[in-house]
Amino acid sequence: MKKYKILLVEDDEKMNQGLVYVLSKQGYAVTSVDTGEKALEQIKGTGFDLVLSDLKLPGIDGSQLLRAAKQYDPDMMFIMITAYGTVDTAVAAMKQGAEDYILKPFDMEELRLVIQKALEKRALFLRNIRLQRQLEKKYTFDNIVGTSEAMMGVFKTINFVKDANATVLIRGETGTGKELVARAIHYNSHKASKPYIPVNCAALNENLLASELFGHVKGAFTGAVSDKTGFFEAADGGTIFLDEIGDIGFGLQQALLRTLENREIQPVGSHETKKVSVRIIAATNKDIENMVEQGSFRKDLYYRLHVVIIDLPPLRERKGDIGLLAYHFLRQYGAANNKNITAISRAVLQKLEANPWPGNVRELENTIERATLFETSQKLTLDSLPLAVTRTTADPEDVDVTNDTHTLEQLHKHHIQKILEKTHHNKTLASRLLGIDRSTLWRIMNRLNIK
Ligand SMILES: Nc1ncnc2c1ncn2[C@@H]1O[C@H](COP(=O)(O)OP(=O)(O)OP(=O)(O)O)[C@@H](O)[C@H]1O
Ligand SMILES: [Mg+2]
Repeated sequence: MKKYKILLVEDDEKMNQGLVYVLSKQGYAVTSVDTGEKALEQIKGTGFDLVLSDLKLPGIDGSQLLRAAKQYDPDMMFIMITAYGTVDTAVAAMKQGAEDYILKPFDMEELRLVIQKALEKRALFLRNIRLQRQLEKKYTFDNIVGTSEAMMGVFKTINFVKDANATVLIRGETGTGKELVARAIHYNSHKASKPYIPVNCAALNENLLASELFGHVKGAFTGAVSDKTGFFEAADGGTIFLDEIGDIGFGLQQALLRTLENREIQPVGSHETKKVSVRIIAATNKDIENMVEQGSFRKDLYYRLHVVIIDLPPLRERKGDIGLLAYHFLRQYGAANNKNITAISRAVLQKLEANPWPGNVRELENTIERATLFETSQKLTLDSLPLAVTRTTADPEDVDVTNDTHTLEQLHKHHIQKILEKTHHNKTLASRLLGIDRSTLWRIMNRLNIK
């Protein structure tokens, strides 16, 4: 576990010592100083995760320190300690980027929670950075992005089989990257300069598909006005990718079996066979084993295809890859659309990871492409995500004050809620602290839907 570094800035000696004691006991590495000047020195030297500072300090005060700290590291968490009566300044501090504030006098449990919440954000931020770095280090294989164990296994298999002539069967739900893997195998093999021909077996009826795959001779059927070379012949020396192989009919399964067994084809309407040297990669999103059991897919063909199997797991089973993929697509579509979006907000990342993605990587890709178009800031925010994705997670995000897309209204709401909690919902006390009268508080609560 990472030991978080906290810088405590508090000029009251007793308070300072007390806090050092408590925070150290909670497992943090605490450095404490009693002036803003000393704090600045510290901030420049050590990478602190969080600064906990009193607002009122002799010399450089808390809000000046906040500004300096944010300039130095915008993602350093900053929590302001303020006394009752200075809440305006506290709200101003939040607008300048403080993560939170805590009103004196506070109890230690309250402080513990505020710090814990801020550090959770910090952890997410650090993960974000790590993801960006990983992309730079290219944890990818030919644009196939992934660091999950499953994807590492896939990369390894691709490396093993690319130069063998073995037939490969790629299985996986829609959008998991089957076609991408097929292309990677071909273009990383020594046949890379030879043809790579993808055929969607589900797109054509059986007769047409047979003629496309094996070719036909003139007069083989009405409309066959001349000889035609099929895909197998066209792919000679290279690779043919039979996509959606689970969708081909029985007759064609028989013909394919012959091709796989003898490496020869028979054009439609011809009595002659031709030898071809073609690497076959097939893919399906069907449960082909079940089809074999049910008798709708030939067992012998299945065994012929079954030489090397690559299983692509659904995205929801490799959530660790989601952030990395999101950054990958952000770069791709950011560049394509001339958008300079350099980061993904923590809240977005959380939503993406919580989404079930039935359409897998393709669906994630479309989501990021759309978000890139809609985003107006330099960071992907929740506003640019489709509702279907933002709705998925359980806990509603608190106002993210480090994210400058929140409205003044949200800030108000956040602050009022906080004061209400502090005063145990005593509205007379709360309105006094807020500097407004009770009926105004009542009206605002109604308008902002504060319960
Ligand atoms: N690991 C990955 N890294 C980067 N991009 C990916 C990855 N997996 C899939 N993609 C992208 O997602 C999209 C869908 O991938 P692909 O077409 O290969 O899926 P598929 O499994 O063939 O889907 P279908 O069964 O619907 O044909 C493509 O744009 C592809 O580039
Ligand atoms: Mg496909």
